[in-house]
Amino acid sequence: MKTIVVLTGAGISAESGISTFRDSGGLWEKYSIEEVATPQAWQRNQDLVLDFYNQRRKQLYEVEPNAAHYALAELQKKFEVKIITQNVDDLHERAGSSDVLHLHGELKKAQSSLDPSLVYDIDGWELKKGDKCERDSQLRPHVVWFGEPVPMIEPAAEISSQADIYLVVGTSLNVYPAAGLIHYTKPGIPMYLIDPLADAVAGIQNLTVLREQAGKALPGLAKKLMANES
Ligand code: OAD
Repeated sequence: MKTIVVLTGAGISAESGISTFRDSGGLWEKYSIEEVATPQAWQRNQDLVLDFYNQRRKQLYEVEPNAAHYALAELQKKFEVKIITQNVDDLHERAGSSDVLHLHGELKKAQSSLDPSLVYDIDGWELKKGDKCERDSQLRPHVVWFGEPVPMIEPAAEISSQADIYLVVGTSLNVYPAAGLIHYTKPGIPMYLIDPLADAVAGIQNLTVLREQAGKALPGLAKKLMANES
């Protein structure tokens, strides 16, 4: 089986009703990164940070995967599909994708603020002040904040180098190191970029740009890729 690697961002979950970050009306227009998504924010105001992620988690329980998530799960019938997502939601898993690497963490998990290797499932939507790890320190969201290392970047680069076909879906490619992953691919493989606002990406050959919403474009692309395999 050929391997398809898919790098996804907030845009793939937009049609499920989850806001992206940098579109007009996106989350970073309503909140400041410095106030909710940095280690300094956590030191300054834990209540505000907990509340920001609690609201995101609460919303996650109210939404469903969309046609784009399901199309990627469908591709598993003919391909080895490895998803690298910048998203902290679990919509890929809920749609049935079985190989998902979360580069920026997972909303439904918490980690110790003392030892990031202590990770726990959160029961329900709310992480509270006073919820503690086994070493008695406050639990924080299991999310990579700006200014923190991205521990999964090396496995993600290795996965990217295994791709026979590479799809990039719903990401502004603004945030590094995630945006650099496309440069780890083998030269000359077919690459697809699906994003209504996509630009050509410098230095990438064999790139097909589909300027459409993921839920519209991905089911058709998945069908085409599967038809080519039979
Ligand atoms: P962005 O908000 O930066 O980009 C979302 C992209 O999705 C944009 O290019 C949109 O054009 C596109 N888009 C919108 N609707 C779409 C649709 N229906 N189908 C396909 N594409 C659509 O989000 P990311 O690139 O994911 O990190 O942002 C990367 C990281 O920055 C996030 O993981 C998060 C954020 O700050 C952390 O919080 C650490």
